[in-house]
Amino acid sequence: MYNKIFLSSDHGGFKLKEIVKGYLIKSFIDCEDLGCNSLEPVDYPDYAKLLSEKLKNNDKFKGVLFCGTGIGISMAANRFSHIRAALCTSVEMASKSRKHNNANVLVLGGRILDDKLALEIVKEFLHTEFEAGRHSLRVDKI
Ligand code: RB5
Repeated sequence: MYNKIFLSSDHGGFKLKEIVKGYLIKSFIDCEDLGCNSLEPVDYPDYAKLLSEKLKNNDKFKGVLFCGTGIGISMAANRFSHIRAALCTSVEMASKSRKHNNANVLVLGGRILDDKLALEIVKEFLHTEFEAGRHSLRVDKI
């Protein structure tokens, strides 16, 4: 389960972040937007770091990161040892990222996904639990 969702993006993910934020607010899901706040170019590693710091020492917090493709910001986030960031382009990937990998951060590409699919991916990520068992051993080896 989660008790708070942090959102963060660069300019390439800004528009999709706003759409996902709107969905979370409408659904009464507690969320905090860490920026960016416009289409003005910024550096995605800075936004990966901001969000990663919020998730330190709290396994009930989750995050959603966005950049143009989702690639750069997921690379940056995964440099932090407590982050398991999953770049997902399908509902199936979102489901497995939770069930098998216990991902605590979902990553979406704002220039890759259409809004409807992105929201389906977010819902799946937030509503799917880690299966633990044999997957715990593997996750612990990361
Ligand atoms: C920014 O133009 C773009 O490079 C960035 O959003 C992302 O796609 C990087 O991986």
